[in-house]
Amino acid sequence: MDFKKQVVDTLVKVLPEEITEEQVNKLIEKPKTSELGDYAFPTFILAKSLHKNPKMIAEELVEKIDTTGFEKVVNTGAYINFFLDKKAFSNDVINEVLTKNTDYGNADEGKGRNVPIDMSSPNIAKPMSMGHLRSTVIGNSIAKIISKLNYNPVKINHLGDWGTQFGKLIVGYKLWGSVEEVEADPINNLLKYYVRFHKEAEEKPELDDEARAWFRKMEEGDKEALSLWTWFKELSLKEFQKIYDRLDVKFDHFTGESFYNDKMDAIVDTLEEKGLLKESRGAEIVDLSEYDLSPALIKKTDGATLYITRDLAAAKYRKDTFDFVKSLYVVGSEQAEHFAKLKIVLKKMGYDWSDDIDYIPFGLITTGGKKLSTRSGRVILLENVLNDAVDLAKKQIEEKNPNLKDKEAVAEAVGVGAVVFHDLKNDRRDSFDFNLEDVVRFEGETGPYVQYTNARALSILRKSGVSDYESISNHAISDPEAWDTIKMLQNFPAVVERASNTYEPSVVAKYVLKLAKSFNQYYAHSRILADDDDLKARLSLVKAVSIVLQMSLGLLGVKAPEEM
Ligand code: ARG
Repeated sequence: MDFKKQVVDTLVKVLPEEITEEQVNKLIEKPKTSELGDYAFPTFILAKSLHKNPKMIAEELVEKIDTTGFEKVVNTGAYINFFLDKKAFSNDVINEVLTKNTDYGNADEGKGRNVPIDMSSPNIAKPMSMGHLRSTVIGNSIAKIISKLNYNPVKINHLGDWGTQFGKLIVGYKLWGSVEEVEADPINNLLKYYVRFHKEAEEKPELDDEARAWFRKMEEGDKEALSLWTWFKELSLKEFQKIYDRLDVKFDHFTGESFYNDKMDAIVDTLEEKGLLKESRGAEIVDLSEYDLSPALIKKTDGATLYITRDLAAAKYRKDTFDFVKSLYVVGSEQAEHFAKLKIVLKKMGYDWSDDIDYIPFGLITTGGKKLSTRSGRVILLENVLNDAVDLAKKQIEEKNPNLKDKEAVAEAVGVGAVVFHDLKNDRRDSFDFNLEDVVRFEGETGPYVQYTNARALSILRKSGVSDYESISNHAISDPEAWDTIKMLQNFPAVVERASNTYEPSVVAKYVLKLAKSFNQYYAHSRILADDDDLKARLSLVKAVSIVLQMSLGLLGVKAPEEM
């Protein structure tokens, strides 16, 4: 049942004819506190035409309103306040959640159309950084959220597996590395050569020339260069996969930058045909000065292609292959200019679908206020973060619930879930400092807090012995303590829609924190298992809450252990 519509319909019957239903719909507000009702209508708009003051108008209108189906309708100053019939409302909402179950909140806005999501995209031979973690979990969550509106997400890992850095790596490996060392601890040792390369190249610039030469060999298909590169890539992917498994993130395609090697000539040709390419000091560029941007560097002096050249090819390939309605790129805000250029160049090439490209930036994770970078060696290794979080979770479980079965698995779900939740609860554009203790707390605005709330709800349900909730005929609750929770349940579909429209998982994270909080308040104030006439209605509310808590955690890519 659409309760807002009920309010609109009721108002339209008593308002002057020139006020349309649409206007009323727009004017209706949701009061901040429940003392002012569930919906309120401001009468200011009528003052002019009725030649009366708004307060008087409100008083007169309230007299005329048919209050059937409402608990009451009153006026506060110039507002008309509608109080919904709590029993009818709760019966309706809980019934809908229980019957739709995990389909609750689904809609058909996307009509099954494709939305490629460029996400994670770590660089081969380097550790996956906290930035890549952000891209992975934000992208994964956006995929799940838009799926509820029946978009078809296509998760693409645009691996950084091509570029001059691999020339540097080959030089470093040949100078200082060995097969044994690399096999023993691939990413850390490859990183070690890379960091050392940068240090030594400061004194010995000839190293840079060597690196360029090796990358040119790669682009020319040289056997030795490519077999080293393939080896680095395979080892790296194996390490990355461990993290994806722990995060439970799956990709539809691992098409990295190298995938576009044979698709770039066509792009360069088109740029040429359209007269967009210019020569500048031996390099080929697209001039973007009219947009106050530095030029897009398409080919270097030595003919080597660049990051943006590969992105142009990738964008075109995605349009041709997936015929997308939207094409998303979940990449840190430091690349804003790159994506601005990408869109402009595509547009200049005549591809109007470039308007459907949405760059989804996110802020940095810092430690102690400092930026992280691979070159400086100041990286937080994601794997260590996850391990530490899981250890901390284990310690807390040991204190709270030492006899819990499956302790290891629960600790993994709680620790990893805590890191993911922490990442998603902030507006994605915000930067935040990472402090493990804050992340894994069982109280406050954390993932474990929500998981714990759900486990508590499930434990109540187990104790009750009831299992068939849909068949409970009466879900009507008039309990004022339950009212906030019930209204939050009703709000879930709107939350999913807003999260989807803004590509903002934090909308779901903030919502689920509030839902958990309001449910815990209800739990603290009422004896849910008391043996009275409303027992079953209360249990069906608990069930509905657990469904929505689990679904929200699921949309964030966070697991919901049954006990903890
Ligand atoms: N590998 C890049 C990096 O780590 C991110 C790639 C983002 N995706 C893209 N299509 N450019 O910075």
